[in-house]
Amino acid sequence: MDELALAADADQRAHAYLAGIGKRRVFPDAAALAQLAAFDEALPQHGHAPADVLRLLDERGSPGTVASNDPRYYGFVIGAVLPAAAAAERLMGAWDQCASTFDNSPAAATIEKIAARWVLDALDLPRDAAVGFGTSATACTLVCIAAARRALLERKGWDFDNDGLDGAPPLRVVISEMAHITVKKALRVLGFGMKRVIAAPVDEHGRIDPAQLPPLDDMTIFCVQAGEVNTGEFDPFAALIPRAKATGAWVHVDGAFGLWARASSKRALTDGIDGADSWTTDGHKWLNTPYDGAMAICRDARAMSAAMNSDAVYLSGAHDAQKNLTLEFSRRPRGIPIWAALRSLGRSGVREMVDRHCAQAERIADGLRAAGFEVLNRVVLNQVLVRAKTDAQTVAVREAAQASGETWFGGTVWQGRPAFRISVSSWRTQDEHVDQLVALLARLLADRGA
Ligand SMILES: Cc1ncc(COP(=O)(O)O)c(C=O)c1O
Repeated sequence: MDELALAADADQRAHAYLAGIGKRRVFPDAAALAQLAAFDEALPQHGHAPADVLRLLDERGSPGTVASNDPRYYGFVIGAVLPAAAAAERLMGAWDQCASTFDNSPAAATIEKIAARWVLDALDLPRDAAVGFGTSATACTLVCIAAARRALLERKGWDFDNDGLDGAPPLRVVISEMAHITVKKALRVLGFGMKRVIAAPVDEHGRIDPAQLPPLDDMTIFCVQAGEVNTGEFDPFAALIPRAKATGAWVHVDGAFGLWARASSKRALTDGIDGADSWTTDGHKWLNTPYDGAMAICRDARAMSAAMNSDAVYLSGAHDAQKNLTLEFSRRPRGIPIWAALRSLGRSGVREMVDRHCAQAERIADGLRAAGFEVLNRVVLNQVLVRAKTDAQTVAVREAAQASGETWFGGTVWQGRPAFRISVSSWRTQDEHVDQLVALLARLLADRGA
C-alpha cells in the first residue's frame, strides 16, 4: 500500500470510529481490554508493512479507547474534539511542521500569531500580552511561574540567568488551599519546596478568603484559581488582585478550564481577573481542541520571552517566536487547532457552548436532587459534585455507572467523604444526553435501596 492509500485507509478507519460515536461503550469492556495484549510483542527485528501497523492499531487499539469524544462522557473536564480542530490536526499531520520560528514554518508562525490575538480577544485579556502555546496547563503554569520568578528577581537587580538561585533574594509563594495539584507540581519542579509554600485559607465554597489572606509583598508569587476542579468555583479576583498588585506581588491565574467562563454569560465570575500578571488555560479542556494544546499568557511579554529564550547561533527567532515563549525548542503548531476551534465557533459559538454546558450542569443537579442525591456544590459553572446518602451508595453508584458503558465520570473525596464529579464539557452533549444520565443514576440509586 503506498503512502496515499495508507492515508486513505487511516481516514476510512477514523471515519468508522467517528460514525460509532454515541453508540459504543464509553469505557471498554473486559473483552476489549483483553485485546490490548496484542500490542505486547518484542521490538520487531524487521519492520512490518505500514498497513499492518495501522490495522493492528485500529483493530486492537480502537476498542480499548475511552469514548471521551462522545456526548456521554463527563470525566475530568476532558471535552470532546470539535470537527474543525480535529480536521486541522489531520492536515497538520501531513504538513509535519516544526513550528519554532517563522523560518521553520511561515504558515504556522503566522496562524499561531492570529490564534494568540484571538485568544486574548475571546478571553478579554490585555491585548499586548504574550501567548505561548504549550502542551498543557501544567507546562504553561510552569512557564508563567518561571517568568514570574525571573522578573521579581530582576526587579531586585538579581541576574537570575547567570547567577541562578544560590544567594538570590528569597521569594515567597502563596497559593490557595484548594490549588490544583499541577500548580504544586510546577512549583515543585521549579524548586519551591511544598513546606515553604503558603496556603491561603478558603471560605465554605473553596474560594480564597480575602479576610484571611496571608501577607504578600514584592517578592511574592500569588497563585489564584478560575475554576476549582471539584466545584468549578472562582477565587474573588476583584477583592484579591488589586490588593496583591498594590504590594508588588506577581499574580498568576490557573484557569485551565474556568477561564473560558470569561467568554460566556458567566463572565462576572471572572471580574477583576484581567488585573493579574499571567494566566494559564487549556484548549484541550473546555475549548474542545485535541490534546496537547494549552496557553501560557503573560502581561509582560518581555518577561516571558526572556525566561523562555532559546536563541542559538544557528536558530534565532523573534521575541515572540513560539520557541521563545514555550518550553519546547522543536514543537508542533499547537496553536493551529486552537485557531481552527475559534474560527469555526466564533465569539458566539464559544459563548453558546460554555453557556449550554453550565445550563446542563444545573439540569443534572436538579435531576439528581429530585432522584435523592445530594449536590455538594453551588453549580456556578459546569461541575456537579454529588454524593448519595451513604458513602457505600456513592461508591457503588459511581462504579456501576462506570461499568455500565453508558457513561463515565470520576470519583473524588470531598470534605473527607467519597463523592463523584460530573463535568459537562463536550460540544456533543445535548439535553437528551444529560437526561439519560440523570435517569441512569436515578435507576442505579434506586437499585441500591435508596
Ligand atoms: C484547575 C486545573 N488546573 C490545572 C490542570 C492541569 O491541566 P493539564 O492537564 O492541561 O496539565 C487541571 C486539569 O485537570 C485543572 O482542572
